[in-house]
Amino acid sequence: MCGIIGYIGFKQSLPILMEGLRRLEYRGYDSTGVALIENGKIVVSKKAGKVSELQSELKNYSSPSTIGIGHTRWATHGAPTDANAHPHKDQNGTIALIHNGIIENYQTIKKKLLAEGHTFQSETDTEILSHFIGSLYEKTNDLFTATRLALTEVEGAYAILIISSKEKDKIIAARKGSPLVIGVGENEMFIASDATALISHTKKVVYLEDGEIVQISNNSFITKTITDEEIEKQVHELDLSFEQIEKSGYDHFMLKEIYEQPDSLTNSLRGRVLLEEGDAKLGGLEQVSDLLKNTNRIIITSCGTSWHSSLVGEYIIEQLAGIPVEVEYASEFRYRDPVINKNDVILAVSQSGETADTIAAIREAKRKGATALGIVNAVGSSIARETAAGVYIHAGPEIGVASTKAFTSQVAVFGLIGLLLGRQRGLQIDKGRIIASELLSLPDKIKKALQSADEVKQIVNEFKDSSHFLFLGRGTNFPTALEGALKLKEISYIHAEGYPAAEMKHGPIALIDNKMPVVFIAPKDMLYEKVMSNIQEVRARGGRIIAIANEDDHEIDEFAEFVIRVPRTLSYFGPIINIIPLQLLAYYMALARNCNVDQPRNLAKSVTVE
Ligand code: M6R
Repeated sequence: MCGIIGYIGFKQSLPILMEGLRRLEYRGYDSTGVALIENGKIVVSKKAGKVSELQSELKNYSSPSTIGIGHTRWATHGAPTDANAHPHKDQNGTIALIHNGIIENYQTIKKKLLAEGHTFQSETDTEILSHFIGSLYEKTNDLFTATRLALTEVEGAYAILIISSKEKDKIIAARKGSPLVIGVGENEMFIASDATALISHTKKVVYLEDGEIVQISNNSFITKTITDEEIEKQVHELDLSFEQIEKSGYDHFMLKEIYEQPDSLTNSLRGRVLLEEGDAKLGGLEQVSDLLKNTNRIIITSCGTSWHSSLVGEYIIEQLAGIPVEVEYASEFRYRDPVINKNDVILAVSQSGETADTIAAIREAKRKGATALGIVNAVGSSIARETAAGVYIHAGPEIGVASTKAFTSQVAVFGLIGLLLGRQRGLQIDKGRIIASELLSLPDKIKKALQSADEVKQIVNEFKDSSHFLFLGRGTNFPTALEGALKLKEISYIHAEGYPAAEMKHGPIALIDNKMPVVFIAPKDMLYEKVMSNIQEVRARGGRIIAIANEDDHEIDEFAEFVIRVPRTLSYFGPIINIIPLQLLAYYMALARNCNVDQPRNLAKSVTVE
């Protein structure tokens, strides 16, 4: 949600913090702030708005400080104002703290502090935590101890960084439920919410785990648990290049990521398709192969776009492997006391690997004795580490808030898992070969689907002032309809709904009139004739039809006002191809309506709070 960066070393800290905040801004962008230690004092600069606004305010400011912390916020408690922006100081102004997460018992702590005479400048739970640590600091005179003791009483989720004017040579950091990664340099250290902010400085990283607290100086760090046990941490080498997180000439990260999909999909499939054997090889699942062979049920849990790919996964695994699959929103799963058996497999799907609800769902499943596996993009993320085994989708860093390439790669990985489990459970080799070969053809088919950009722009021109859109599809293209609608509403703010096409007549058909654009995902598959009937129903009520159809389908021209043509594929993989024009539609619609594509209002890339 929020983005956090800290620096301690020998260089001027402010430019490093500002660059880090620009890279982390996709995580939250309603206010920005930094705190430095300058001439023995804490100096805070903060402002509502984007990083660029604070940057222009500080453009003539050059600070000698070589230690500081920075924050880009996604508001939870209190509106996005200057006062609510982080960092927050304690009562005496000795420490400054930044926070990603939610302190659930902040009201209880606040009451105690009010009784002790504390006064507050903001409406945030973060300021309460800062005062709480500050009050213990007065008694202990040791920032590490004060922070550790305070955190033993804190309920909720946090990643925090703290500096003190009395201990100018250290940053204290702690995590529970929100990510933090330390970047190890030569006589300098970095700490951030994710590696995108560190990659231009170092590739050596250390991941903090929940319940850990660390004291960082310019050439070392000491890690303990909140309960005061010392821990040895391992240094990892990042497999991520600076170029991978740049825009490479595209106007927006989202557009870059849409056009990257032939490559990201190739990377997801690389070395994993066994064409001759009609099978798949997934090294990450080998250690749980007995469990997978014997399981009677798979529960897939996830949020947002990852939930849509999970729905496709349900079709694929049930059809290829015959294993019953349930798909559930992680936010619901975690609280409804689900019935879970010991040999159930829980598959958690997440691009970021840091989504709070998905992490909580994994923990709930593990608590009930099931094995949790991950389908994750971000290498080394919390979900990757909390699951027993899993599959990386290898889509590369996804920076645009609207998820695109993660969706197609997740569906492809479901294709691989379906193939692997199917072949273990009687799927014939001939069918396996057809599926394997189709998987390998997908990157080229995506390339062709990307050629629809000009047609998409015409549609945008026609409908850019529409207030509503309906997306309809059947089978695996029902989740495609959901995903198309999510993309459009997220970045263009047009109200959009996705439905199974046949469900329309049970209610949404009441919305249809001559102002309603209806996008039908209508590939030539076994449900084509049924979808054609649904098209007729909309047409009869004056709805304006946009069809995503196959290259060789000319029958549909008579019934649809606009037709976007994409290559044919097997129905399992239809979403991978059919979503491409819908991603482009959302993108160009957002541009036409002057919306901020990469940083849509109210959203954050990684939802690390409940
Ligand atoms: O990182 P995750 O895949 O766990 O994130 C899940 C959702 O928060 C995410 O897909 C969200 O819905 C995106 N904004 C979709 O574009």
